[in-house]
Amino acid sequence: MMMKRTVEKTADGSCTLFVPEMEEHYHSVNGALQESRHVFFQAGWEHLNRKSYRILEFGFGTGLNALLALARAVRDEVAVTYYSIEKFPLPEDLWQQLHYENLEIEGAARWFPLLHRSPWNEDVRLAPCFRLHKMEGDFNEVDFPEQIDLVFFDAFAPDKQPEVWHQALFDRIFRVMAPGGVLVTYCAKGAVRRMLQQAGFQVERIPGPPGKREMLRASVPQS
Ligand SMILES: C[S@@+](CC[C@H](N)C(=O)[O-])C[C@H]1O[C@@H](n2cnc3c(N)ncnc32)[C@H](O)[C@@H]1O
Repeated sequence: MMMKRTVEKTADGSCTLFVPEMEEHYHSVNGALQESRHVFFQAGWEHLNRKSYRILEFGFGTGLNALLALARAVRDEVAVTYYSIEKFPLPEDLWQQLHYENLEIEGAARWFPLLHRSPWNEDVRLAPCFRLHKMEGDFNEVDFPEQIDLVFFDAFAPDKQPEVWHQALFDRIFRVMAPGGVLVTYCAKGAVRRMLQQAGFQVERIPGPPGKREMLRASVPQS
């Protein structure tokens, strides 16, 4: 696949990447930062409201979700282990053009380059409460860590990338979830909801970020 990517500004002023050959953006054009906050943090992190999280992200990409997680962990003194899988890491000249260090996120200027420059396939402690483990590889091939509280499922859309929205992948994710854990995704498709249910999740359709009526939150029953 990969792939030329260009930088674009979204409606809330934050940048995203566009992949011309897929005609697909990394984030909502209605606002990249707004979407990340809504889908992954309000609907996922705040819904769980824990003092510690083991997070597994599908698609490290621009590092925006990791940046928000690190800033929150430090601000709220929450212990986070952040795993993120990515097949196509961004070269430095590209992530630098996103200028996420200028976003209104506490510590962004310090954390953003650190997140990207951290080595792949190693445990790195970026702050006393935040451990990062970026995994370079394909969602369909890497072994997932276990006892996951929160999944950020942030692959490209199912119509662009059907090979990463399938039953066997959601079954594998379900098996590594901790009791009470949650998966959130911007996608609200019926077929995805049914696959998550088939895997064992209890799935809700909840309001999406501006420009998107609905999204999905899938929860693992408490044992
Ligand atoms: C919608 S983007 C979002 C990325 C990131 N969460 C962000 O906020 O920038 C999807 C990401 O998944 C990655 N990706 C696509 N297919 C993949 C695969 N089969 N295995 C691992 N990563 C993949 C892409 O390179 C891209 O970084």
